[in-house]
Amino acid sequence: MNDKVEEILKAYPEAHRDALIPILQEIQQSEGYLSREAITRVGDYLKLPASKIYGVATFYNQFRFQPIGRFHIMVCRGTACHVKGSAKVLETLKRELKIEPGQTTRDGLFSLEVVACLGACGQAPVIAVNGEFLAKVEPDKIRNILQFYRRKVMDNAK
Ligand code: FES
Repeated sequence: MNDKVEEILKAYPEAHRDALIPILQEIQQSEGYLSREAITRVGDYLKLPASKIYGVATFYNQFRFQPIGRFHIMVCRGTACHVKGSAKVLETLKRELKIEPGQTTRDGLFSLEVVACLGACGQAPVIAVNGEFLAKVEPDKIRNILQFYRRKVMDNAK
């Protein structure tokens, strides 16, 4: 069993189900996502069925159930980006990558997340890839952007 998860649980000795969200948040912060193993362990600890934990965790869409991809794409959903068309950017990313926010592509290359204002509103719509900001993103450039990162991996593999 994962020591870090055990350590986190130790900090909640008399834990009840109201500790579920803080525990899951800590595990995600430490591990990057909630593995099936971690969910099962938390379920044993809080005497809750895993299905209940998945239900709660899915409701709060801050949780991830897969490891982050090699390129973690954050799409800003702040007001300025929204006005400048971030919804279309997100739709295009979802379509191209065939994943929803919170998921990672099967090849482990890309993960998608929707976040609040990234603090670069003048550059809207903004996305960030591994923390690097891309400004004034146009939906029809998304395919090229993804291709750029795929190529990066291929070049590194040579
Ligand atoms: S609203 Fe997107 S960067 Fe501020």
